[in-house]
Amino acid sequence: MSRQYVFTAYGGPQGEELRRRAVPEPGPGQITVQVQAAGVNPVDWKIREGLLGRHEPVPVPMGREVAGVVTALGPGVQGVGLGDEILGPVAHGEGGFADHAVLDVAALVPKPADMPFPVAAVLPVAGTAAYDLTHQIELEAGQRLLVIGAGGGVGHLAAQIGSAHQFQVLGVASPAKQSFVESAGATFIPAGPDAARAVRELVPAGVDLMVDLVGGQALRDMAAVVKDPRRIISAADPGTAEELGGEGRQASPGALQKVTDVVAHDLATPHIARTFPLARARDAVSEVESGHTTGKVVIEP
Ligand SMILES: NC(=O)c1ccc[n+]([C@@H]2O[C@H](COP(=O)([O-])OP(=O)(O)OC[C@H]3O[C@@H](n4cnc5c(N)ncnc54)[C@H](OP(=O)(O)O)[C@@H]3O)[C@@H](O)[C@H]2O)c1
Repeated sequence: MSRQYVFTAYGGPQGEELRRRAVPEPGPGQITVQVQAAGVNPVDWKIREGLLGRHEPVPVPMGREVAGVVTALGPGVQGVGLGDEILGPVAHGEGGFADHAVLDVAALVPKPADMPFPVAAVLPVAGTAAYDLTHQIELEAGQRLLVIGAGGGVGHLAAQIGSAHQFQVLGVASPAKQSFVESAGATFIPAGPDAARAVRELVPAGVDLMVDLVGGQALRDMAAVVKDPRRIISAADPGTAEELGGEGRQASPGALQKVTDVVAHDLATPHIARTFPLARARDAVSEVESGHTTGKVVIEP
């Protein structure tokens, strides 16, 4: 038997439930893994709330990204073997908050041997987002990158990747996260009504790229500090970014392998703030749902 965390009704966390099921069999082009770690993301509770639609019939498995050990190969699978350590997004209809999960072989990446499972587990969602946000519009060394939400899972990684490219990174976050933001090589900007003025004082000509992980009013308040509104990219709120002249995050093929290489070469390191056992998945989701995590939350079954 195997455990899987699901929600049984769209809406609040009261619909979440840990269930038992048989170990899932992989289909053609798929593998089953024993999950070693699963990243928790805002998208997990957003799906549960129905904010992305209510297309999937309940119960809907929760958790989009995992790192684990291959335990079964589906028909036609090549290039992956039993016992291999891999990371990747779960297959459609599957969930990562589980003892076992099914993944499409085409989407996964081998886990570097010395990369801890919790670090590997946060690369398919948060890692690829950070990679795309810092590469969708290319900057040159020395140009200014502003990250709104630099203390969160995606923002802290995006700031580190920007620093590795020798961009001048400025990171907006709440005051308690100053040293955390600075650890990503960024100049700290306290979030709040004075944030835009603080950026203007530091960079009177404006920033070359604005990467947003917060959206709404926080994004609107900062919009005027970017030199060119087409250089606003938001993963949190593409609608507002477009209204302002910018765009949403575009997922690029190959981003998972690239960000895995970046992390394997120590150019950026996801910060795992907290891990929870699968039995406490509800607390893990709730912590991320609070909207104020520092780095990443991970479930280790
Ligand atoms: N489109 C995609 O493919 C994609 C992929 C990944 C993530 N996303 C989205 O991107 C957003 C961020 O994801 P995440 O995983 O980084 O979330 P997260 O880990 O919860 O981080 C969000 C951060 O925003 C900060 N924040 C909240 N209000 C703020 C404000 N007014 N000014 C500055 N910072 C503020 C919070 O820190 P404080 O405690 O400092 O407030 C928190 O650290 C979410 O909306 C998520 O759904 C989209």
